[in-house]
Amino acid sequence: MLDGTFRLIPMQESDLDEVLDLEQRSFSEPWTRKMFLGELQGNAFATNLVLRAGDAGFGEGVGAGALLGYIMFWVVFEELHLMNLAVRPEARRHGIGLALVRHALRRRKAYGRRCSRCGRRTRPPSRSTGSSGLPRRASAKAITFTHAKMQ
Ligand SMILES: CC(C)(COP(=O)(O)OP(=O)(O)OC[C@H]1O[C@@H](n2cnc3c(N)ncnc32)[C@H](O)[C@@H]1OP(=O)(O)O)[C@@H](O)C(=O)NCCC(=O)NCCS
Repeated sequence: MLDGTFRLIPMQESDLDEVLDLEQRSFSEPWTRKMFLGELQGNAFATNLVLRAGDAGFGEGVGAGALLGYIMFWVVFEELHLMNLAVRPEARRHGIGLALVRHALRRRKAYGRRCSRCGRRTRPPSRSTGSSGLPRRASAKAITFTHAKMQ
């Protein structure tokens, strides 16, 4: 799903205008620019990816290079914490969300292999955390996702 006609690349600050637009279309309590920047800047545990359409675009009105979605996750102590996930409405129900989650799971697995080889753990980021160990605002989204059927 993510091969060939898609580009899955690290999220940059220059993506944020489009990302914030999709965030606002996707959530009743959208993350702010500041919250996205918190994930992008200096969080060693965070992986933040955007998925863009390839040269063929993605159907009517979604041209080449358009933002299709994003996924943001942490791998901490070999655990995967999904922080944020959205797919643009015009591209939903085509398997993109599932493919993004599968990609994150593969990254977690790869990290686990590296970790077991180096045999050491690093400290989790210092942030205000809820009982789940996730930042309070993000854990709500992670829980929301947990209830989706996509797992
Ligand atoms: C949730 C979201 C990321 C799913 O993305 P997607 O690309 O449409 O998901 P997929 O096409 O991979 O769906 C895979 C399966 O998940 C389930 N699913 C997806 N969206 C669903 C929904 N709204 N309600 C119930 N089940 C759903 C279905 O079983 C689906 O398979 P199917 O289409 O064969 O029935 C997308 O709807 C979205 O961006 N929603 C708004 C933001 C959000 O809720 N993010 C998740 C919390 S962080």
